[in-house]
Amino acid sequence: MRFDPMTIRGSVVAPPDKSISHRAALIGAMAAEPVRVTGYLDAADTNSTLAAVQQLGALVDVKPDEIVIRGSGLREARSTDRPIDVGNAGTLMRLLPGWLAGQEGRAWTLDGDRSIRKRPVDRIAQPLERMGARIEATDGRFPPFVVHGARLRAIHYELPMASAQVKSCVLLAGLSADDATTVSEPAPSRDHTERMLAGAGIQVQRNGRHVTVHPGDEFELDHVHVPGDPSSAAFWLAAAAIVPGAEIEVRNTGTNWTRVGFMRILERMGVEVEGELEAPDPPGVPTSEPVADLRVRHGGALRGTVVEPDEVPLAIDELPLVGLVACFAEGETVVTGAQELRVKESDRIAAVVGALNALGGDAEATEDGFVVRGTGGLCGGAIDSGGDHRMAMLGAVAGLASREGVEVGDMEAAAVSYPGFTADLRTLSGR
Ligand code: S3P
Repeated sequence: MRFDPMTIRGSVVAPPDKSISHRAALIGAMAAEPVRVTGYLDAADTNSTLAAVQQLGALVDVKPDEIVIRGSGLREARSTDRPIDVGNAGTLMRLLPGWLAGQEGRAWTLDGDRSIRKRPVDRIAQPLERMGARIEATDGRFPPFVVHGARLRAIHYELPMASAQVKSCVLLAGLSADDATTVSEPAPSRDHTERMLAGAGIQVQRNGRHVTVHPGDEFELDHVHVPGDPSSAAFWLAAAAIVPGAEIEVRNTGTNWTRVGFMRILERMGVEVEGELEAPDPPGVPTSEPVADLRVRHGGALRGTVVEPDEVPLAIDELPLVGLVACFAEGETVVTGAQELRVKESDRIAAVVGALNALGGDAEATEDGFVVRGTGGLCGGAIDSGGDHRMAMLGAVAGLASREGVEVGDMEAAAVSYPGFTADLRTLSGR
């Protein structure tokens, strides 16, 4: 699909949050009482999660304005002889085993698409095995893999990398453990699991970088409302920063401080982001997710910046967009401590550097990130998403801001997280 230079103006609603939708479906399936979810994301990844929980015995009633999940209960996941297909969803693949690990004496196989088969699961196998479960993975670390459930013991797990998926997996397993389980993270990562569990009446505490969950199988979670996804909103905010004449509002965007690192990086680069972001590190574990309408208007000079390792988990999925905006900024932008990008839906260090250079930018990969030198903009050209939804949408935004337009191969990949992306673009371009 081709994206030609043009300005965009107007207001869109951010699509529902993918991370929170996955968690609502999984925790809904673990609960014995029905959970009503409003604003559930209707996209490929989150539909994989609904199919998975149905296969595990949850009844899912999809109504026009809400879905209702009738779960089977914490220790009652249904056995199945078909593998559970996680599709392209890394979050499903890494969170679901946390629940299954506590089902004593039973086993499930998880598999997914070509990209998921390259994504490591040893990072969840290690803590789950310490808790007493057994994971049999292909070549010791890839899908397809089998989760053998067991009676779990509580552990204190020091995460080797800042990963909300691994943290969440251990916290979910902790619900069926014999005592309180603690996960220590090197730097804060998204905390939606903690918030949702706390909102369900489960005892969860945070003390600096340590999160503790107490075992519990009674969820008081009648209703979850999913806010708009800041990672999807980020494409429009980046577009407004680099497309001449652009002025965009993204309504109902989640502003949880563990998700808005990109907005703070944009501000440092000289972009004014209007709308209130949650202040960092609120005390305790909040039980809700803040939202705001965010606005960015094109204008003013952009300057390069340095993204430090501690900021990386707070902007992990938006770092490719930092690279894109950096092409339009004065000076150099350096992203460090982001080696995790190599194991996303694609190797996003190679993908973003390759894409920006193909479009006339000046980008260089490093072991743990990348360096982009601003060259006053991008010429344009052709790139392929490689099946990575975020690279597809980055290519589209690059096209709008480029001098000659960008042809994006496999734009359909956007449907993994944002099926309405091109429709929203039509709204914003008035075409
Ligand atoms: C996610 C956590 C992040 C992120 C992914 C969604 C989540 O992955 O990149 O898109 O919902 O917990 P890691 O935990 O691997 O960093």
